Amino acid sequence: MCGIIGYVGNKEAYPVLLQGLHRLEYRGYDSAGVALIQDDIINIHKRQGKVSELEEYCIDRDISGHTGIAHTRWATHGEPNDVNAHPHFSSDKKMALIHNGIIENYQLLKTELINRGHEFASETDTEVLVHLVDDIKRNENVELAEAVRLALTQVVGTYAIIVISVEDPHTLVVARKGSPLIIGFGQNEFYVASDGSAIVEYTDKVVYLNDEEIAILTEGDDIHVKTIKNKVIPHYVETLEMSLNQLEKSGYEHFMLKEIFEQPRSIADSMRGRLNSAKEIVSLGGIIEYENHLLNARRIIIVACGTSYHAGLVAEYMLEDLVRIPVEVEYASEFRYRNPIIYSDDVVIAISQSGETADTLAAVELAKQKGATVLGICNVVGSSIARATHAGSYTHAGPEIGVASTKAFTAQVTVLTLMALCLAKRKGKIAKQKYTHIIHELENIPKRVEEIFKLDTHIKEIASYIKNFNNALYLGRNYNYPVALEGALKLKEISYIHAEGYPAAEMKHGPIALIDEDMPVVVIATIKGTYDKVVSNIQEVKSRKGKIISIVTEGDTVVKGLSDYIIEIPETEEMFVPLLATIPLQLLAYHVAIMRGKNVDQPRNLAKSVTVE
Ligand code: F6R
Repeated sequence: MCGIIGYVGNKEAYPVLLQGLHRLEYRGYDSAGVALIQDDIINIHKRQGKVSELEEYCIDRDISGHTGIAHTRWATHGEPNDVNAHPHFSSDKKMALIHNGIIENYQLLKTELINRGHEFASETDTEVLVHLVDDIKRNENVELAEAVRLALTQVVGTYAIIVISVEDPHTLVVARKGSPLIIGFGQNEFYVASDGSAIVEYTDKVVYLNDEEIAILTEGDDIHVKTIKNKVIPHYVETLEMSLNQLEKSGYEHFMLKEIFEQPRSIADSMRGRLNSAKEIVSLGGIIEYENHLLNARRIIIVACGTSYHAGLVAEYMLEDLVRIPVEVEYASEFRYRNPIIYSDDVVIAISQSGETADTLAAVELAKQKGATVLGICNVVGSSIARATHAGSYTHAGPEIGVASTKAFTAQVTVLTLMALCLAKRKGKIAKQKYTHIIHELENIPKRVEEIFKLDTHIKEIASYIKNFNNALYLGRNYNYPVALEGALKLKEISYIHAEGYPAAEMKHGPIALIDEDMPVVVIATIKGTYDKVVSNIQEVKSRKGKIISIVTEGDTVVKGLSDYIIEIPETEEMFVPLLATIPLQLLAYHVAIMRGKNVDQPRNLAKSVTVE
């Protein structure tokens, strides 16, 4: 939610900022703006709409300057328009600020500032910050960084901010709490951004700022970091593990399509070094230290949101089946506010692609406070959740830029499978023969995914059928229930067709009333497990004239006979069906959205990294 970028150094700042905004646009895209210091003035240009609209607007404007900040917004307080776009000015226009997060006590602060004569231009919570810093700077007669620090002691909420002032024209003051912020080092210059994608082409030497820390970045000087409580602290320079070509579309029309097609590679990368099929060894280095906590856990509680929550549901089935430890899966947003019972011998696993989802991060903090062991399964290296958890394993899916999550889901399921296999083996809950079979089958999953891609043209035909409906139902049972949820989520979020995922047997407790000839029903009906039951559920839909699109195991004839369309996927172990069956559903949603003329990479109202609750 919102992307921020700043630059100070001897380059022209605008091209750096603009390129950074393009890379951060997945975080929010309802308005964008830039502020540049030029001598003793700050020029701000901002525009409702996408970064490209800002770019066009800036063509005949003064964009010179070596110090600047820029922002791409996902609106929380105040509708998306030119005025509410960031950066925001202080009253005298000598200071400007950008912000990602939410200032919860902004109304109170705003009233006090208005009483002291400040005039506000926007409806945003952010604007209070720049007025507050300015007010403190004047009244306390302190330096910019100290004014920022004092202002932040009064703030309740979350923030990643960058402040510039004409009085310190070669300095950026940055701070964070609950929203991500990364600082990159160049030649006598600094880059600051919400994530590494915006700065990787300039540097791989970075510092991840921690919560409640402020950094002062002056051209030609060293970085100075202190806490909001004014304690000077050392900084640790790390290497940014990201390459530029991971951030390009590489010939694909959309990031989402590229990311779908990357899955053989991303699944394999998530197994690499962790699965040795020749020696039949599965190990997850990141959590080895906590393996005994997992083995002796009273319960495993998985917290996540959206697609990551669906990966958690798959893990619940797997962990209970293979390891025989009770597992609960919770929406992080519900978990954190419902006073959950958490025991110190519970293990909480937070799953998050971005590692920044505010609700998941808050659930992690809550579980830690209650004394549980907390592990993370994150994709973004160095992200807040990865750092807040006691230990964890990265998914190695590579940067996911399309707003709809695809390769992150299959990578999460892969890592959770490895975890389940490790624990099952250590706990002695899995027969040798089954273990051997499963790990060989897992190793073959990337190949099986490749096979599914051959069905793309056929899936496109099905998409051209579905695109004209207003609703769709997705049904599955057991391991295929989370797949149904995920398939429905993909369709609704990018094509705006209303879609619901249901456990197939629940249909007759209500949703069956919806079924008529205008209701396409996507059923995941692979062989094994509850196959016969699902066949009965398909019969129930068919006898009410519902249109049936089935995902079946290659060679299936029974479901084929009942379906209007089928998608055949290779046979695999039941627990791995989610890794295969999700792929055609991702492609289906993609093609439907394209045929309906939607922006698949940046669907309306969404943002990739949900850093507000
Ligand atoms: C759906 C989607 C979202 C995310 C959710 C959690 O396609 O992308 O539902 O899965 O916002 O995000 P992370 O995994 O970053 O915590």
